[in-house]
Amino acid sequence: DYGFCAAERLGAAAGLDDAALARLQAEFERAMTVVSAQKAAGKLGFMDLPFMGQDGLAPILAEAKRLGEFCENFVVLGIGGSALGATAVDMALGGCLRHAFARPAGAMRLFVADNSDPRMFAALLDNLDPRATAFNVVSKSGSTAETMSQYLAARQMLEQKLGREEALRRLVFTTDPQAGYLRKIIAAGDDIAVLSVPPNVGGRYSVLSAVGLLPLACAGHDVAALLEGAAQMAGRCQSPVLGENPALMLAALAVESFRRGRNIFVMMPYASDLLGLAQWFGQLWAESLGKAKALDGAEVHVGQTPVAAVGATDQHSQLQLYMEGPQDKLICFLTIDDYGRDLTIPALHPELTGLSYLGGQTMSRLIKAEATATAAALARQGRPSLSLRLPRIDANVIGQVFYLLELATVAAGAALGIDPLDQPGVELGKQLTYGLMGRQGFEDQAAQVRAMDAG
Ligand code: PA5
Repeated sequence: DYGFCAAERLGAAAGLDDAALARLQAEFERAMTVVSAQKAAGKLGFMDLPFMGQDGLAPILAEAKRLGEFCENFVVLGIGGSALGATAVDMALGGCLRHAFARPAGAMRLFVADNSDPRMFAALLDNLDPRATAFNVVSKSGSTAETMSQYLAARQMLEQKLGREEALRRLVFTTDPQAGYLRKIIAAGDDIAVLSVPPNVGGRYSVLSAVGLLPLACAGHDVAALLEGAAQMAGRCQSPVLGENPALMLAALAVESFRRGRNIFVMMPYASDLLGLAQWFGQLWAESLGKAKALDGAEVHVGQTPVAAVGATDQHSQLQLYMEGPQDKLICFLTIDDYGRDLTIPALHPELTGLSYLGGQTMSRLIKAEATATAAALARQGRPSLSLRLPRIDANVIGQVFYLLELATVAAGAALGIDPLDQPGVELGKQLTYGLMGRQGFEDQAAQVRAMDAG
């Protein structure tokens, strides 16, 4: 139910003439062939996740049920792709103010500790009742320093307060089926529940695996509906024709805008609850497409810098820059047809015409008018934007959006001629951290950093 404009209208809005659109159509038809070949080679595991069925979901739901019997809080210990998806959905469906209010009946409160920040993490450990708290260590590699440090601290706290057996009952690992230290800990005899991340599903593409689904099921969200939405979007994204495939169209417009100097991709939902989704997309887009590649004997650098903004909030913060600053941005709005709730603005001051025009109108009308006005104002300044129109915010629609954006990302990667599945820059940072923290086998990395620091 997305309100995608016809290809010609989108093209016109982005300043693309017919020849440019025809060129993009040919290029992205090839990109779709590359994506299909990667899928056939088993590299794009995220495309299979929506179709995991009952067999895939059952162990996740069983684990959620087990923990739900004695826990009120569920803490994700993970970072990057092992964390952002759960936050995105919990914020979208539970609301950005969810932690300010009482826990919904039958659901756990979800906390995602997406950092090794001692101030934040100590506050979490200090304030949660260990008896009523489960800790889900989420690490595909099973070795990321931030996540492992949290695991060690949480486990020690649980063991000190509850004893070993009760501590292990409250831990769940989500990791590779075979590799990594979390598997070694279990193999050594610790009786800890474990769920697997398929080997061909990378961190930032893993929200619809156990990585995202266990926390979300524990928080009471409809994970089957998420998968169903993603499967529906998969069905809509089969065609190699831009106007018939929203993921391909989005990728084409983004890549073309990048080539025309638009180095920044602003994801701007008109809903406070979708900030987490914009941040999840930020990681997906940045880590997948920000790459160096060899071209004609030289190294070139590609990728748009993603920015997460929120309408109407950032109309009063970022928008001035988008209107008159450098011509280097593509703005992508997420608009909402039905907010699910509405408020009629009271007509309290009929004598004040500057206020009385609002009386009797709805708040949803106001925020939609702001989205429309912002797009129009940008167009007047010659600045392109595009809109993904969401019928509503629910699990099905969020599942659709995940799949759409993941497929758009790999299609954009194919067109840019880079591998959207690797992250060598992130891995380098991890290795240098291991070195600085004294991990055996990473002495060279430590020496490299110290040499640069001294320099
Ligand atoms: O998308 C990615 O691959 C990364 O952001 C990882 O998710 C992140 O570095 C955490 O890695 P891991 O799950 O191995 O601990």
